[in-house]
Amino acid sequence: MSKPTLILGACGQIGTELTLALRSAYSAEEIIASDIREGKPALMDGGPFELLDATNYEAIEDVIMHYEIEEVYLMAAMLSATAEKFPMRAWNLNMNALFNVLNLAKEGKISKIFWPSSIAVFGPDTPKLHTPQQTIMNPSTVYGISKQSGERWCEYYHKKFGVDVRSVRYPGLISWKTLPGGGTTDYAVEIFHDALEKGSYDCFLSENTQLPMMYMDDAIRATRELMERTPEDVTVRSSYNLASMSFSPSELAESIQKEIPDFKMSYAPDFRQAIADSWPKSIDDTKAREDWDWQPEFDLKATTKAMLQNLKQS
Ligand code: SER
Repeated sequence: MSKPTLILGACGQIGTELTLALRSAYSAEEIIASDIREGKPALMDGGPFELLDATNYEAIEDVIMHYEIEEVYLMAAMLSATAEKFPMRAWNLNMNALFNVLNLAKEGKISKIFWPSSIAVFGPDTPKLHTPQQTIMNPSTVYGISKQSGERWCEYYHKKFGVDVRSVRYPGLISWKTLPGGGTTDYAVEIFHDALEKGSYDCFLSENTQLPMMYMDDAIRATRELMERTPEDVTVRSSYNLASMSFSPSELAESIQKEIPDFKMSYAPDFRQAIADSWPKSIDDTKAREDWDWQPEFDLKATTKAMLQNLKQS
């Protein structure tokens, strides 16, 4: 059943595909895209759009009242690499936007929230392999600190005020419709563009830096499956571990070479290497599989083929 829904940060990497997916699944008129700037024609032309700053409570409230919004997806955030350069701006955006939607739900103006967390909630002390749902976290990045704080506040608002907020810890997301911006896992998207345009890629992470990753179609499906569950099924109100595959830059390069044999990879690690080194290599997502039957579909080979094919046609 369709419910009036607002997507904050709809022009970003996840927001674009989430908006398009929700519009094609439900009535497009009821899926309101919003962002601080305009996005791609497919997004702007396919349904309602509002210019909206996610840190402005009154502006969000106006849109919510106008469209009688019931559900909000808060996809506006500053990612890990940019956040290291602008710590206070990152903290203000990532936290104030979250408080805005949590408080709107607390006041009964909306009934359900999706807010993304990240593998960045984990830190250098966290077990790196098959990182459990509950473990030592101690994030060491500005972005990770904001996401961990956000998780604590989501759980608090759920327990204290009954707010129906749901979340997953996304791994690095690989997509072809919209580029990511300012993340540490962005290399795994840039590489496909450069492979097709130049036949080579100079990677900002070192060759053996293994990180958890996911193809966007799986990430969107996970998000929708979690949001469609009855509230009782959602036993984790901080954020669910979510996984599909893990690979290093050299493994991704090998996978691309199977499709483009002449593809060349070089390595020039920069400040993002330290961020990547603080994150897990692989994630245990048993809880998501138990609570809402999560099952990934895309492995590295399928992701590589889908990325190259879709980018060639776009
Ligand atoms: N992909 C994000 C980043 O690299 C992690 O959530 O910042």
